[in-house]
Amino acid sequence: MTAEQLISFARGAPSLDIVDVEGLKAAAVRAFDADPAGVTAYGTSVGYPPLRKWIAEKHGVEADQVLVTNGSLQADAFLFDHLVRRGDAVVVERPTYDRTLLNLKQMGGEVHGVTIQPDGLDTAELRKLLESGVRPRLAHVIPNYQNPAGVTLSLEKRRELLDLAAEYEFTIFEDDPYADIRFRGEPLPSMLSMDSRGVVVHASSFTKTVCPGVRVGYLIGPAELIAAIAKRATNLYISPGMVAQAIVHQFCVSGAIEESIRTVRSALGERSAVLAESLRRHIPEARFVEPDGGYFLWVELPEDVDVDRLAPAAAERGVAVVKGSDFMVDGGRHALRLAYSAVTADRIDEGVRRLAEAMAAVRG
Ligand SMILES: Cc1ncc(COP(=O)(O)O)c(C=O)c1O
Repeated sequence: MTAEQLISFARGAPSLDIVDVEGLKAAAVRAFDADPAGVTAYGTSVGYPPLRKWIAEKHGVEADQVLVTNGSLQADAFLFDHLVRRGDAVVVERPTYDRTLLNLKQMGGEVHGVTIQPDGLDTAELRKLLESGVRPRLAHVIPNYQNPAGVTLSLEKRRELLDLAAEYEFTIFEDDPYADIRFRGEPLPSMLSMDSRGVVVHASSFTKTVCPGVRVGYLIGPAELIAAIAKRATNLYISPGMVAQAIVHQFCVSGAIEESIRTVRSALGERSAVLAESLRRHIPEARFVEPDGGYFLWVELPEDVDVDRLAPAAAERGVAVVKGSDFMVDGGRHALRLAYSAVTADRIDEGVRRLAEAMAAVRG
């Protein structure tokens, strides 16, 4: 199967047509012209200082609360490494981002999955878990257009979660790379911005708004925590990539990022609507919540469709999907995550048609 023939709903990455390549090239030239010494030196582990400052201002925090990393997955890994010890209880959403799940399991965390509802994590179920005596070190939450479920945590639940974290003394890890990609409705405040008790650590990224190749993400938290993690980062790699961070900085201060966000938002809003329409047409039994933003749509299929059989049958027909079971410790055998970010609108219907054909072939 050639790359042109394959329709991939598997990768949560933007297609090339919505990456501002020319804008990035121009930002690179400006970065080298404006600050050749800063761009070419090692720098320090906290990241490229002007970008660190820009991020701090965007989130209304002090610069010493920000650590700029090589993608936000590295920010996640640093935080887990700092907080979680073998045998510690941790809460994740069910389903959740597969790499988070893998990392926490590999660290020997005792992983508790809490159900995701159309308005985000089931806070009543979490309360019950806490009342049963479980004392997590942290709760990993993807509040906006969750990966993989596509749903958004309501304002009321954000408040409840903050109260639970303060009461039961755990850290909320707000993993929030999709916040800016809203294509409907009003944006909700981050839990970081609502937090008056120091219970939130926040991560985000330029992967979903600029492109994954820059590998620039960040962690925001209490200054002492950031300083401790920065020390570890220094020992690990001296400093993250200054060239990429300086390019992102120029991209941000010029306003190109706002244009890029508009492009991604509008393309993904269209793709999400086309995907929902195609699912209704070709797989009318599919159940899903249409996302208000982000990259993903989660599809529940009938009980007689086993995704262990469906995914390879789909691949044979030139369509790639990710099995629901990859996103939870158990379950997900009748669900799929469909990423619409990397498929242009004109290819989506054909992709869903192929998926329906694969489904018919494996049913029963
Ligand atoms: C919830 C979540 N966190 C972190 C990441 C990692 O992103 P980055 O490219 O910034 O490392 C992703 C990427 O898909 C994600 O969905």
